Amino acid sequence: MKFFIDTANLSQIKEAQDLGVLDGVTTNPSLMAKEGITGNDNVLKHYVDICNIVTGDVSAEVLSTDFKGIIEEGEMLASLHKQIVVKVPMIKEGVKALKYFSNKGIKTNCTLVFSAGQALLAAKAGATYVSPFLGRLDDINLDGMDLIHQIVHIYRTYDFGTQVLAASIRSPLHIVKCAEAGADVATCPLSAILDLLKHPLTDIGLSKFLSDAKKFSDVVVK
Ligand code: G3P
Repeated sequence: MKFFIDTANLSQIKEAQDLGVLDGVTTNPSLMAKEGITGNDNVLKHYVDICNIVTGDVSAEVLSTDFKGIIEEGEMLASLHKQIVVKVPMIKEGVKALKYFSNKGIKTNCTLVFSAGQALLAAKAGATYVSPFLGRLDDINLDGMDLIHQIVHIYRTYDFGTQVLAASIRSPLHIVKCAEAGADVATCPLSAILDLLKHPLTDIGLSKFLSDAKKFSDVVVK
């Protein structure tokens, strides 16, 4: 399973990259706004800055909602850097655009997916990635993981090439559950990735090993 980081924060992207487990980045307009990135030129430069930190795919979201606008914006985003994946909303004009981009060999990420039917449409249209938002389903008392299982099952049954990119992840348990479900990618906040490290028995065990080592080792144990 690939790990993407779901942020536009450059220092968090660098930290995840330095950890050595990062496969890509997803952003969205809310995440860009959170970092205070405003103005078209600054937004475009920010995407390039992200691409220069990581080696994998970087999702950049279109703001247009009509077919012509999505195509123009998507082609401009894709021309910024070879790692850019055009993020397209799950709307009728978006589905048409996914097919257009697929025919042109431009990678896409179909976002704001909340049902298996929407995921089926995205796959039929040739999306590279589909982004089901599991945390936002949990927020309204639906089981987001059920949707991940459903989409993985449908895609495997028909051998669709679209990769399941589990999004709106809130916790390390979400990441593990997505791995169990067979999601191709999990896009996560840095905190959820770092929380995977934690286990009290690891801390207790390491502390004991280091205190025992002091009994025989010349190495200075800090
Ligand atoms: O990038 C899309 C998605 O991951 C958003 O997550 O936490 O805003 O629901 P969240």
